[in-house]
Amino acid sequence: MKTLDILRQSHLALHLIPITIRELIGLGHSPANVYIFENDQYILSIKKGAFIDQKVLKEHIEKGHSSVFVKEEERQDLIDVQQEHLRVITRSFSMGDSKENARKQLNLLSLNLRYLFEEPTNDETLNLQHQSLKILFNFLYKNSKYHEEIYHQYIKQGHHYIFAQPFLSSLFLIGILKIAHVYSQKDVENLFIASYFKDIGMSAIPLEKYDQEELSIKDKQILSKHPETSVRILKGRIPLTPNYFDVIKYHHSFSLLKRDLGTQLSVSDNMRIIGFETVMVNICDIIAAMISPRPYREAESLYDALKLVRDIISPEYPNEFKIIVNYFRNFFTVEL
Ligand SMILES: [Fe+2]
Repeated sequence: MKTLDILRQSHLALHLIPITIRELIGLGHSPANVYIFENDQYILSIKKGAFIDQKVLKEHIEKGHSSVFVKEEERQDLIDVQQEHLRVITRSFSMGDSKENARKQLNLLSLNLRYLFEEPTNDETLNLQHQSLKILFNFLYKNSKYHEEIYHQYIKQGHHYIFAQPFLSSLFLIGILKIAHVYSQKDVENLFIASYFKDIGMSAIPLEKYDQEELSIKDKQILSKHPETSVRILKGRIPLTPNYFDVIKYHHSFSLLKRDLGTQLSVSDNMRIIGFETVMVNICDIIAAMISPRPYREAESLYDALKLVRDIISPEYPNEFKIIVNYFRNFFTVEL
């Protein structure tokens, strides 16, 4: 490389930040100059304003460029475009093919959740996420028959598990609470929202760390406080009553208490303290996580996930366990 090129490269490197290539999929024209890192240098791949050829994006992904780079000052332009898309699809959700709208909206919601993780105090990003979730919830609540299809389509979108897990666990939660027949639609909506946002406190450590198998002791400590951090981030900013903030605060308490203090506290004690809904949020979270792969482990079988759930809530709550087993048996028509 010539001296001038080296200087240009290092100057560029200082101003570039990585983004996921997923943020460019579905865009007509690029709101920013997009660079790839190849042969030890940054190469301009898509010019600002240029038409984005989806084939080029596919080729980049195939070549291992799932991360691309944009200049820091142009990053916000990209976020603005994607957030506007989410706003438009949320506003016009009832027009056209709702199932297709749900698929598109889920993709945009997951991108927006990434933006929220990057800046959890941003009210506009949080409000947009919340409003969109409510519209999506209304569709999902009325259309259980599409849940399995939506689940599989969503997995194919390939979002990072940190941004996919909130939806997957909350989708299961809707189904289970519906068949429990004791909750109103509004109750289920609030629990869906609480469940979706319960892990926003995980934004306290950088995303890359979630790809590691082992976290440092300090990161583990931060992570163990994520339910309280989530409450701190959300309180006063989304319209949930204190009961639902308690669901967020205690969303790991049940399985953790059972594991660590199983002999000291009975399941019924736990249940009385934190409520059945919180237990269901916890259980849907465990199942959704176990049956999905992570960068450091393979997915486990639904059978193994249910076996763990049985150890957690059965035999004291055989009827609730039956509801869960029946739900998942009916949910997956195709074996995982
Ligand atoms: Fe959590």
